[in-house]
Amino acid sequence: MAAQIIDGRGLAGVVRQEVAARVEGLVARGVTPGLAVVLVGDDPASQVYVRSKERMAGKVGISAQTIRLPSDVQPEELLRQILALNEDSSVDGVLVQLPLPSQFSGGVEAEILGQISPEKDVDGLHPLNLGKLVAGEDGFVACTPSGCMRMLASTGVDLTGKRAVVIGRSTIVGKPMAHLLLAQNATVSICHSRTVDLADRVREADVVIAAVGRPELVRGDWIKPGAAVIDVGINRTEEGTLVGDVAFDEVTQAAGHVSPVPGGVGPMTIAYLLNNVSLAAARRSEREGR
Ligand code: GUN
Repeated sequence: MAAQIIDGRGLAGVVRQEVAARVEGLVARGVTPGLAVVLVGDDPASQVYVRSKERMAGKVGISAQTIRLPSDVQPEELLRQILALNEDSSVDGVLVQLPLPSQFSGGVEAEILGQISPEKDVDGLHPLNLGKLVAGEDGFVACTPSGCMRMLASTGVDLTGKRAVVIGRSTIVGKPMAHLLLAQNATVSICHSRTVDLADRVREADVVIAAVGRPELVRGDWIKPGAAVIDVGINRTEEGTLVGDVAFDEVTQAAGHVSPVPGGVGPMTIAYLLNNVSLAAARRSEREGR
């Protein structure tokens, strides 16, 4: 039987409604949530994502601004902008769109992202928020893994005792994803480009999260019958079409649930960014006694 398709677009609409309701309550108390996105350079994909974030923010009543910096901007200038946003009381969430250009490689990127105030770190990339996730404490969690967990929840699959395989070990997806699955009592393996016998590891999995950035890497015969498969990849083929990290047509033949690309994780990532901004504003409202 063909897999059930996890409708990320529809589910993101539900999350946005929840966020809009929270925002409405905040605005009634005089707190308008604000998001600042910093975009460095002119990467076409990043420009599309940032426009989409701005547009969706507007839909739920979040005030969004984008700060555009040239591709040759020096790290000191980006840092100066971040410190100014940390001090700006109208800004609840600060997001630096990734990837950054080469002058930020070799640890500079992490050093700069670590300067975003943890209370405004809606991407969940500050070491304090990463530490809270590992410790099981309340903090900001990266948007894509949060969206993936909501998609899994929507399938009704109980993760307790299930084997989950996360393919990809990035700080923004793979590592937080593994911790969220662990918190739901799954038995988690993180696989990556150096993993030996990746197909066999995936064959053991009840839940597969593909986040490696390799077009259609995960094949139909890697999938345990009935498994839930979440495709985080967004790859553009030479013909210009978008494909995920999962060979969708093959995988739907074996899986119980599978998320498509596009229309899967992408809209959920943005919905959870808006959710995090609304939570940041709610915490501000509590701090200010409003
Ligand atoms: N680039 C692609 N996805 C993301 C994301 O979730 N956050 C940031 N900051 N950059 C990204």
